[in-house]
Amino acid sequence: MLSEKIIGIQKEGERALSSIKTMAELEMWEVKYLGRKSELSEILKGLKDLASEEKRVVGPLGNAAKESLMKAFEETKETLFENSIDWERERIDVTAPGTAVPRGHLHPITLVEQQIEDIFVSLGFTVVDGPEVDKEWYNFDALNIPRDHPARDMQDTFWIKGEEKNKDRYLPRTHTSNVQVRYMEAHTPPLRIIIPGRIFRNEATDASHEHTFHQFECLMVDKEGVVSVATFKHIAETFFSQFFGKKVRIRLRPSFFPFTEPSFEFDINCILCDGKGCPVCKQAGWLEIGGAGMVNQKVFEAAGYPRGKYQGFAWGFGVTRLAMMKYKITDIRLMMSGDLRFIRQF
Ligand code: PHE
Repeated sequence: MLSEKIIGIQKEGERALSSIKTMAELEMWEVKYLGRKSELSEILKGLKDLASEEKRVVGPLGNAAKESLMKAFEETKETLFENSIDWERERIDVTAPGTAVPRGHLHPITLVEQQIEDIFVSLGFTVVDGPEVDKEWYNFDALNIPRDHPARDMQDTFWIKGEEKNKDRYLPRTHTSNVQVRYMEAHTPPLRIIIPGRIFRNEATDASHEHTFHQFECLMVDKEGVVSVATFKHIAETFFSQFFGKKVRIRLRPSFFPFTEPSFEFDINCILCDGKGCPVCKQAGWLEIGGAGMVNQKVFEAAGYPRGKYQGFAWGFGVTRLAMMKYKITDIRLMMSGDLRFIRQF
């Protein structure tokens, strides 16, 4: 009796399984034929109450039916799953090229700054940072440029609204020289530092003038008699030759800066025509690069050094200018334009 019932359940289950098309139907089937409350489970649960003769027949039969239905169930599940996949869509072409991840670009000024820093670090200099908005004292007075001194007109200054009347005014620095006294206040010579940074000048803009640009300051100080103009010339020649990858010569012309004495402007021989004369150097064979000089003792005094104990040189030049020369950029305004078409070229 029970044996026939079991065989009947198995056959019915197998037949029902063969017409199943969806996972939902399959789940219902599983509950009906294999679930805890299914007919088959009930029979198997009741085995313990049967006479041992009958148990010996019904037991193995029931278990075999359950195993067989479970196997059929698993197979159907597998088939349904495989049929549910769109293999064409799932195909992976391992030979297809990857999707390129867009890469950022370093700004030409950053590139040039990094190169300058590498060269100077290899010469034993330390890279120093300073504030872009600083006290008037560090930008002017400490550098021997008192208020109402005509030298203030050399650098057109942006004044901050509301600061005009303050005794110790803040201003967007007009040069990286503001870091000279700041650094010397906290350090004792010997010192060799470079100060790259952004500066601000209240100037009308055109292809070769910007109100915001990058400068680069160099300061080398030691006991009296160690650092001379010759040291400066040597360091400058070494630097520019390494930067441009060929021998570069330096020319000094007398000039004036309140914070250096003596002061010079310095030129390098035109790297495009090697000094023969071309449109870039306006046939002069030389390119104006920046200002330099031996640090004025008054600046040392402002930093708290005793007068006459130390001697050193300072120089400053435009990084923006150098980047323009290096990459042959003809309009300075492109630099700060934020135009990605420009930046992507580097
Ligand atoms: N600070 C000067 C300028 O911006 C350059 C300079 C620096 C000159 C150091 C002499 C010494 O024009």
